[in-house]
Amino acid sequence: MPLTADSLNPALRSVEYAVRGELAIKAEQHRVALQKGGEHAQGLPFDRVISSNIGNPQQKGLDQPPLTFVRQIASLMEWPALAELAPGAFPEDVKARAKQLQEEIGSIGAYSHSQGVPLIRQHVADFIAERDGHPSDPSDIFLTAGASAGVSLLLSLLITNPKDGILIPIPQYPLYTATLAALSGAPIAYHLDEARDWETSVPALREALQKASTDGVRPRALVVINPGNPTGSLLSADTMREIVQLCEAHDLVLLADEVYQANLHRPAHAPFVSFKKVVRDLQSRAPLVSFHSLSKGVAGECGRRGGYLECTNVPEDVKALMYKIASVGLCPPVQGQVGIDCLVRPPRAGEPSYALYKAETESIHGDLRERTRKMAARLNALPGVSCVDAPGALYLFPRISLSDSAIKAAEAKGKAPDALYALELLDATGICVVPGSGFGQKEGEWHYRLTCLCPGVDDYVGKLVKFHEDFSKRYP
Ligand SMILES: Cc1ncc(COP(=O)(O)O)c(C=O)c1O
Repeated sequence: MPLTADSLNPALRSVEYAVRGELAIKAEQHRVALQKGGEHAQGLPFDRVISSNIGNPQQKGLDQPPLTFVRQIASLMEWPALAELAPGAFPEDVKARAKQLQEEIGSIGAYSHSQGVPLIRQHVADFIAERDGHPSDPSDIFLTAGASAGVSLLLSLLITNPKDGILIPIPQYPLYTATLAALSGAPIAYHLDEARDWETSVPALREALQKASTDGVRPRALVVINPGNPTGSLLSADTMREIVQLCEAHDLVLLADEVYQANLHRPAHAPFVSFKKVVRDLQSRAPLVSFHSLSKGVAGECGRRGGYLECTNVPEDVKALMYKIASVGLCPPVQGQVGIDCLVRPPRAGEPSYALYKAETESIHGDLRERTRKMAARLNALPGVSCVDAPGALYLFPRISLSDSAIKAAEAKGKAPDALYALELLDATGICVVPGSGFGQKEGEWHYRLTCLCPGVDDYVGKLVKFHEDFSKRYP
C-alpha cells in the first residue's frame, strides 16, 4: 500500500491539539517573515510575534530566566570535571549535591532504571510526605518524560475499547482529548462552573456520569486539573472531598493533574492541597494517580522533559504492568530526572545557594502575580469581556461576547467565531493566543486563553485592549 496520510491510523488523524494548531502555525509564518525582513515582512503591523499560546516560560521572547541552582546542577551532571575547572562557579552545596547524584547515577549518558533513578524517587517521596503530612513510598513513584508521558501511559492502560470513557473537564488542556482520540477512547465532558470562578461542579459530574450511562459508555477515570488549565482555578477543599468520594463510589481512577501546584498567586488565601492528602485524610480507597512536572512552577524547564507520577491505592499488578510498559521506553530522560531532583529538593535556608534561589523564585512569583492581576483588571474593564482573576497556573481565560456580524463573518470563513477573533488579533498585534474552542466551552460562548508570561505587561495588555476596541467597531 502506498504511503499516504489517508492510509495511516485514522485515530491519529483525528487528533486535535489547539495550543500548537492553526494559530501557532500562522504565528510561526509571521515570525519567519519578520526574520527575513524586507518584502516578506511588508504589511505586518508589528515587529515581533508574542507567543501567548503556550505555557513555555523560557521560550524566546518570554525569556523567564532559568533557576541558577537547576542549571548549576545540570552543568555538573553533564560535565563533572567543571567542578575542578571552574571551582568558583559552584557553591559548595551544589557541588556536594551533584557529587551525590553522580555517585548514584554514573554517567548522564547511560539509561537509568525504567521507573526512574531510585535515589531521586526517594527524594520525590520525601517531598510528597513533607507536603502532605502522609507517607509516600518511592516504589509508587514513576519518573516520566514530562507529565504528558505519565498521562499518556495511564490513558493507554485504561482505554480497552471505544466504549471506555474518561471524564474530562471542559474547558480542558487538550492533551486529554488528543490522547483519547489517539487511543479511540470516549471523552466524557463535564463543564466547569465559570460563574463560580471555574469551580468543578459535582452535580455536573453526576450529570456527565448519567449521560455516559445512557450512551453506553463505561467511565474508567476522572481527570481533574488543579490548579486549572486554561482556567487558573483552584479547587475548594469541600469539592475535593466530594470528588474523591464520587470516585470511590463509582470505581473511577482519579487522575490528578497538579503540574501548576507551585503557581499560586495568593497562596495565603488560596493554598494548594493535593488530592493525595485528601485521599489519605479521608482514608479513602479511591485509586489515585497524581502528576507533577518540571515544566511549570518556577523552574519552567519545559524542554528538559521531567515529570513524575505517584500511585495511591493502585494494586501491585497494575503497577507491575505500568513498569513493564515504562521499560519498553527504556527510561525517562536522565537530565529531566535530575531536574525533578532539584524541583523536590530546592536549597534550604542556611545552604550557600539559598539566598539566590529565594531571590530568583520570589521574582518569578511576583512577576506572574502582578501580570495576572493587571491583565485580568484591564480585560475586565472592557465592554463585552469578563475574566476570572485566576488564583493559580499561568493563564487567563477571558470570555468575550461576539456580535452577530462577527459570528457571520466567521461562518463565511469557515472558522469558529473565537478563532476569527484570535486570528485577527494575531494579524493586528503579533500576539498569539488560543481560541476557547480549542479547550472546549459551552455552546454559544466564546473565550480565548492567553498566558501571563509576557514581559512588558502594560504595553502587551494595551495592545489587547486596542485590538478589542477595533474589533468591536469592525463587527458592531
Ligand atoms: C494541565 C497540564 N498538564 C500537563 C502538561 C504537560 O506538561 P509536561 O511538559 O510536563 O509534559 C501541561 C502543559 O502545559 C499542562 O498544562
